[in-house]
Amino acid sequence: MEQGVLSNSDKEYLNNLAKFYETRQSLLLPALHLVYNKYNYITKRAMEEIAEFLNIHPIKVFEAVSFYHYFHNPENKPYKLKICTNVPCLLKGAYNVYMTAKLYYTSSKNIQPLIFLEEYECVAACDKAPVAIFGNKYLYNLTEEKMQTILQEFEKKGIIP
Ligand code: FES
Repeated sequence: MEQGVLSNSDKEYLNNLAKFYETRQSLLLPALHLVYNKYNYITKRAMEEIAEFLNIHPIKVFEAVSFYHYFHNPENKPYKLKICTNVPCLLKGAYNVYMTAKLYYTSSKNIQPLIFLEEYECVAACDKAPVAIFGNKYLYNLTEEKMQTILQEFEKKGIIP
């Protein structure tokens, strides 16, 4: 197997964490979060490497990744834009925010390879609705105009504003 998904410092971090768990399999979610936070997606190779490092069958890793929507990024794009469209956000205009993002995404060939856009479930920030998560950044009190500006800035500068 190729090396590289888990760096030496990642392995050291996980080995230190292992002291607090009874089995290495218990490190599965911390390992997935580690990889996801670095790459914003978890490839098949990463799953195999995690399985090997934790000395568990790869199917255990595949199961966890497919179970937790948080890790869902089927096209392995560098950024995920998750827009909550559950009822509290919906009542504050989330669907229009989502459609603004979708329209921008569809019409911009620059950002299509970079962003995986999806409607998302409640992220427990309903008091700041509508809410989205772009990469690891929470965006609150969104409007159609704010979403448009965020995507324009992202397209211009390549970073999440
Ligand atoms: S419904 Fe959107 S954050 Fe809770």
